[in-house]
Amino acid sequence: MCGIVGYLGEKNSKKILLDGLKELEYRGYDSAGIAVLQNGEFSNYKAVGKLVNLEEKTKNYETKGFAVGIGHTRWATHGKPTELNAHPHLGESSYVVHNGIIENYAELKKELINNGTVFLSQTDTEVIVHQFEKNLQTAQTAFDAFSQTISELDGAYAVLLVTASEPDTIFFAKHGSPMLVGVNDENEKYFASSDTPLIGHCTNVNYFEDGDFGYVTSDEMMIMAQDGTKKEAIFSKLTQNKLSAQKDGYRFFMEKEIYEQSDVIADTLMGRVGDEEIIFDELDSNLFDGINEIKLCACGTSYHAAMSASYLFERYSKIKTSLEIASEFRYRSPIMSKDTLFVVISQSGETADTLETLKMAKNAGLKTLVICNVDNSSMVRLADACILTRAGIEKGVASTKAFATQVTVFWMMSLYIAKLRKSISDADISKQVSLLREIPTHVKVSDEMHERIKRLSKRYLHGHGFFFIGRDIFYPLALEGALKLKEISYLHAEGYPSGEMKHGPIALADPELFTIALLPEHLHYEKSKSNVEELSARDSTICAISSREFDKADDFIKIPTCKDYMLEFFEMMIVVQILSLEISIRLGNDVDMPRNLAKSVTVE
Ligand code: M6R
Repeated sequence: MCGIVGYLGEKNSKKILLDGLKELEYRGYDSAGIAVLQNGEFSNYKAVGKLVNLEEKTKNYETKGFAVGIGHTRWATHGKPTELNAHPHLGESSYVVHNGIIENYAELKKELINNGTVFLSQTDTEVIVHQFEKNLQTAQTAFDAFSQTISELDGAYAVLLVTASEPDTIFFAKHGSPMLVGVNDENEKYFASSDTPLIGHCTNVNYFEDGDFGYVTSDEMMIMAQDGTKKEAIFSKLTQNKLSAQKDGYRFFMEKEIYEQSDVIADTLMGRVGDEEIIFDELDSNLFDGINEIKLCACGTSYHAAMSASYLFERYSKIKTSLEIASEFRYRSPIMSKDTLFVVISQSGETADTLETLKMAKNAGLKTLVICNVDNSSMVRLADACILTRAGIEKGVASTKAFATQVTVFWMMSLYIAKLRKSISDADISKQVSLLREIPTHVKVSDEMHERIKRLSKRYLHGHGFFFIGRDIFYPLALEGALKLKEISYLHAEGYPSGEMKHGPIALADPELFTIALLPEHLHYEKSKSNVEELSARDSTICAISSREFDKADDFIKIPTCKDYMLEFFEMMIVVQILSLEISIRLGNDVDMPRNLAKSVTVE
């Protein structure tokens, strides 16, 4: 996830900006840069990779006395992680840094290019600085030009801009991406996209609200609300605990990442969900030419996301879809035919088993696609095509938001292919597209729901095992729920198809066998209900998750009524993630770094 810092004051700006960026390293990035305006002159440095590269580039650069400066760590979304794509982006005499996504950047860019503007990067961000400079030509003040620019942007952003025309000012805007400003007794101003860079420099901070924009100088802070009315800053005390600031006050990174899912899914959808269809600018339209089968290959959580894709692809895209566990695939003698699109799924893009299968598919001459969270990873570099999931860095070893964004991508992909193959009507695609837009709302965690699950979790700290059960696409969700629980609680858990329990596992049923039953209202409800009743009749302890009341359960977690089974899928995903989290916390385990596990498995 990208990070922003800004500084206005008399101290060593270079050091303050680089130190600030270091504090944001934990969020993940693939390039970084700073721009400092001092004595009417800009200095700008950018580097790909880790911050040491930027430090090396700036080692002979000194800043003494008053300056304004901005800095950025970039996690690539539009365009590769290169120096040209790294922020800050330059216009004629202004620089900008930006977090988020400008949805209408393509239209703005087209217009600017038609008027002779030359773009250096592939990013959406660069339009902001050019648009500002275009407006500056006719505006009375730089702030007027900035306000006009902000009103022309659609999407999510946190923006800092510095310009030679107002050399003692930093302009800011926030809409949908976090940003705060800190002050102290020395008339300095510090900006950042999260608390940590400000700790030790500021005592009081103002968290901007969506729609806020304005500017700061040494003596002034002007904040405007979206409707153009002036606002007063509301200062609060800044925490002095860095680790807890990194976790944004959550107890564990996993918890923070569960709560982030609404935002990151919105990022995943952004620019890809058209009025009535799915747009993947990153895919060549001929990728699916001559393809009669899709083979999905992955490990762990990514494999579960792949399994959910197999249901969606066959249901909507009407294309034959097969599924492979990477560690198995690589050591058998698979038949690979050229009419198969080979798709690997990986959060990290580095998992050794998955990477190897990608190499095998390439060697066999298959077209390849990777669904990945990390640009420039080994898999992204190797595959013919790539869709980035845009989940931002995931620190918790137990994957949560990566899974959520993978499933979102697959739902979008199933409709994209359906459109190409005309496998379902345009009206049905359009209906699905509007459902997709609702995911971010359905994955918002309510305090009430969290509290209920937390209370229930105390009943599930022992027993001789858990069965997570579901049918259809809720089966991969059951597998994922069980994986989450075993990874962080060390309790034995299995995911099972509901209808398969009677073929063996039901023999285990007794009060100490915990069944977590996924009962979606909109998909095979009656069938799944009968399967749970069979277990209930044999005295298994049942925790049912559904929007419909279910009286055969010992515990019941009610999700809101949804319009579609896929929205129920995302609601239940949140429930199983939080249930695992709370059980693990009660057991006193290290949620973020469970024993014996690594975040990225780069060995066999
Ligand atoms: O980076 P990848 O998605 O390729 O990783 C695959 C698995 O190692 C990973 O999903 C693992 O199962 C997680 N710990 C699940 O929470």
